[in-house]
Amino acid sequence: MTELSPLDAAGVDAAVAEALAAFAAASSLDELKEARLAHTGDKAALTLANRQIGGLEPAEKAAAGKAMGAARAAMGRALAARTEELEAERDARVLVEEAVDVTLPVSRQAPGARHPLETMQERMCDVFVSMGWEVAEGPEMEAEWFNFDALNFDPDHPAREMQDTFFIDPPSSGLLMRTHTSPVQVRAALERRDALENEGRGIYVVCPGKTFRTDELDATHTPVFHQIEGLAIDRGLTMAHLKGTLDHFAKSLFGPDAVTRLRPSFFPFTEPSAEMDLRCFVCGGEDPSCRTCRGTGWIEWGGCGMTHPNVLVAAGIDPEKYTAFAFGMGIERTLMFRHNVTDMRDMVEGDVRFSQQFGMEI
Ligand code: PHE
Repeated sequence: MTELSPLDAAGVDAAVAEALAAFAAASSLDELKEARLAHTGDKAALTLANRQIGGLEPAEKAAAGKAMGAARAAMGRALAARTEELEAERDARVLVEEAVDVTLPVSRQAPGARHPLETMQERMCDVFVSMGWEVAEGPEMEAEWFNFDALNFDPDHPAREMQDTFFIDPPSSGLLMRTHTSPVQVRAALERRDALENEGRGIYVVCPGKTFRTDELDATHTPVFHQIEGLAIDRGLTMAHLKGTLDHFAKSLFGPDAVTRLRPSFFPFTEPSAEMDLRCFVCGGEDPSCRTCRGTGWIEWGGCGMTHPNVLVAAGIDPEKYTAFAFGMGIERTLMFRHNVTDMRDMVEGDVRFSQQFGMEI
């Protein structure tokens, strides 16, 4: 291919015409870019011709320069015009192609909900945390010693038997699934007895958590349930402190009119022991046909008592110097009568619609 000369007017015109035709034929910005590189790039005929101007006779330079300038200007104008057209086309197309139909149905992930047992547990703990108590936890798989022996259960106490307790194989492991949160009393006391002895810091803890008994799941039983345990060890604690604490707890959960009552009972780890009842907060004890208290006027809430000296000894605490009280109640039970949940199974089946009714607060 012979090189185009800047003095070849017909050749320059032809090259310009070819370039303008290519620009006009480009149907996209990409194609236009290709055409631009082909006709105005480093290796384009007109670019090479332009470079020859420097080597021409002075007399020829002016004419060649003028012709080439005109050629480049014509191409520049054509390029700019075509670019503008193609950009406008592209913008119009993008607006159509990328339009979002805000009326289309979307696939939504349904939001979950906190389980009311969890929320209730937190609320119960908050009552005690606001009085300066600590929240303690213990293992769900527990040593038989903590669950029974340290709590003053006789070796042949019926609660140890197979029908109540999930034991861990092999029996020689000495392990079980804790049947109540009371073993945490002993653990919490053991962990804090030095601070009690050396700094006179009383032990005030609540222990919420899962507990296990070999019950079949039905409307009123579940093999896995929750309790919250309270333990206070200090100098000079009496049953009056226990009663005052429980009254405050009841009023915090059921309102300022809540009333509690203690009924004599028995637990191996407390002496004296009591069942704690709550005055029915629905009928106030006035309605013999009340469904919440079944007409009795009282709702059984949990067990409590003054910690047995043998339990303090098991935790390495001198029962001559210190006294202690403890209480424990079921969280499922509390939720059932506080919120009128009539079937225990609703609390374990995990249907989010059950939890959603309770919202974020309880
Ligand atoms: N642990 C007892 C129960 O599971 C409740 C309880 C706790 C009783 C603390 C007295 C003191 O029934």
